[in-house]
Amino acid sequence: MSVCWIIYNGSLISEKFIDQAELVAEAAERAGVGARIMKNNDAVMDLSADMDLPDFAVMLDKDILLGYFLKSRGVPVYNDPAIIDLCDNKAKQYIALASAGLPMPATIIAPKVYPAFSIRKSGYFEKVLERFGLPMIIKEGHGSFGMKVYLIETEEQFYEKVEALRGIDFVFQEFVESSRGRDIRVNIVGGEIVAAMYRESKTDFRANITNGGEASPIELTEQQKVIAIAAARATGAIFAGVDLLFDIDEQPLVCEVNAAAHIRNILNVTGINVADAMIAYILEDVR
Ligand SMILES: Nc1ncnc2c1ncn2[C@@H]1O[C@H](COP(=O)(O)OP(=O)(O)O)[C@@H](O)[C@H]1O
Ligand SMILES: [Mg+2]
Repeated sequence: MSVCWIIYNGSLISEKFIDQAELVAEAAERAGVGARIMKNNDAVMDLSADMDLPDFAVMLDKDILLGYFLKSRGVPVYNDPAIIDLCDNKAKQYIALASAGLPMPATIIAPKVYPAFSIRKSGYFEKVLERFGLPMIIKEGHGSFGMKVYLIETEEQFYEKVEALRGIDFVFQEFVESSRGRDIRVNIVGGEIVAAMYRESKTDFRANITNGGEASPIELTEQQKVIAIAAARATGAIFAGVDLLFDIDEQPLVCEVNAAAHIRNILNVTGINVADAMIAYILEDVR
């Protein structure tokens, strides 16, 4: 029997991370694979020591270095750490999405500014304000559950935020008003759509469920399907949670691709267990 590691982050205390790992571990067991739920810090990445290794690892965390470490020892890792690396930085990810020609909100990648310094007086920010106007979105490279996505409504908030983000990767983005508080989450495995849900918040511009959004099942349009699959392909994510926004004509815009998408909410809403599709894909792939 083969054995796999299901890896989540040992520093996060919310129950939803272990729950996510359990869903995947149960799917592995159902498929006849021995599953060991691991915290990322259970594996000591001692570069000069031997270690018992699994036949493959499912990386539910963003510990990209652990992914590279396991790969260096010959362990297939899903998603591949390079993909998690790309998706975990929204600035990098938007470069890939734009170069694939995908419809997305107009985006400007913020320039690198060293934390001890400022480009406040360079005229750069005035150009951004002129391009997008207000309100606009500022989004940090690393962030989940809507926590690092900001709706900037005044110039004062704008300058305060850009100064606070010195040293951090972030992007400026057009605020898609027609999609305020609502989006679609599409879970894709190996280029195929497994499940989708509509998310809507009555209280926040962000539709994330963790942020108060409510989810319901949705039948995707052809266009939404095509764009979601193309977005996953553009990042290379085998397991992808693609967020789609609605443009002014209700057509899809790619909001982001998650390479470590949670699957509990979509299971509750649709009855579809994405973990079974993930394990089936891996078992086909590792052979
Ligand atoms: N440009 C935008 N215009 C309108 N709403 C947006 C925009 N970008 C993000 N949102 C809203 O904010 C939510 C969180 O943004 P997202 O990029 O998916 O970050 P996270 O990784 O935190 O989920 C989205 O689900 C969507 O509801
Ligand atoms: Mg999102």
